[in-house]
Amino acid sequence: MRSLIDIVDFSVEELQQLLDTACDIIANPDKYAESCKRKKLATLFFEPSTRTRLSFEAAMWELGGSVIGFSEASSSSAAKGESVADTAKMISCYADIMAMRHPKEGAPYVAAKAATIPVINAGDGGHCHPTQTLADLLTIYREHGHFDGLTIGCCGDLKYGRTVHSLISAMSRYQNVKIVLISPEELKLPDYIKEEVLDKNNMTYVETTSLEEAMPSLDVLYMTRIQRERFDDIAVYERLKDSYILTPEKLVTAKESMRILHPLPRVNEISVKVDEDPRAAYFRQALNGKYMRMALILKLLAEAEQGLQMPEQTDVLVGKLRCENPRCITSCEQELEHVFKKAEGEEGVYRCIYCEAKKHLN
Ligand code: CP
Repeated sequence: MRSLIDIVDFSVEELQQLLDTACDIIANPDKYAESCKRKKLATLFFEPSTRTRLSFEAAMWELGGSVIGFSEASSSSAAKGESVADTAKMISCYADIMAMRHPKEGAPYVAAKAATIPVINAGDGGHCHPTQTLADLLTIYREHGHFDGLTIGCCGDLKYGRTVHSLISAMSRYQNVKIVLISPEELKLPDYIKEEVLDKNNMTYVETTSLEEAMPSLDVLYMTRIQRERFDDIAVYERLKDSYILTPEKLVTAKESMRILHPLPRVNEISVKVDEDPRAAYFRQALNGKYMRMALILKLLAEAEQGLQMPEQTDVLVGKLRCENPRCITSCEQELEHVFKKAEGEEGVYRCIYCEAKKHLN
């Protein structure tokens, strides 16, 4: 079944179709009030969430459908050791579409392979968060009116920040977008994203540790939280957690048209004093997430009715390489086959199909 695992699963045309649907929902909510009558969304949240889970639920209710699900792993049979694939097969018996958040990278992909209903990745570890990107795109579209030619500053945890990874992938589809990567040395954007997204698409990007230096050039400042839950060594988290704190004083050199986005939740990285600034778009962004999730549910349910399937992976190696990423779903599901896909343009290099970790075939 066609699912959304990574933002690149959708073409630019499909993204535009979702943006147009979301704008139509905003303008004409009554038109959609019964679009999902008698349909059920299952929300499978193995990790905490406020915005993603509740905006999915609000989205389905506003489409006239209903919602089942759980909000923590301990209240599901995962606590008894049930696999992601078996969970997905079960949920396919009870719901028409599911949204899954999981701490292990690749878990929603495993679910999508096993399920007979569409699966939406609602965040998998430090890997991807495509529906956050849909919220980000609608916000940029509504605030700026276009994507081409924008300079996007991504600030904070660029290493584990899955929202940044998905946003950069999405923005690589548009023309003349410049990316400014602002992070401490320890939290720089992973090389595989630089190689396979930025370099491959000939995108202009710069790396800096200074938010102040970057500020005047930006059309969008995408702030992120330094995520305590992604650090193995808490001492490193403590040292880095307050690397960037956005205050009204730091915005003095920013353009009037610049917009501040943040996937939220924030901790210290944006002072509440910034909230009154008209450039602060992060609460509008959270609302936009609901509209894009409505548009997404409509699209995937319509495609399921047409019988559209996920494309098959080609050029794969099964069982010849082992993924050693401790955050990959293969690290905790012993019976899951280790499958690698040939990396584009790199001889002898393969990537885990679940988490994209790199391996060389000797
Ligand atoms: N932005 C986001 O994913 O928020 P939640 O963790 O609250 O869902």
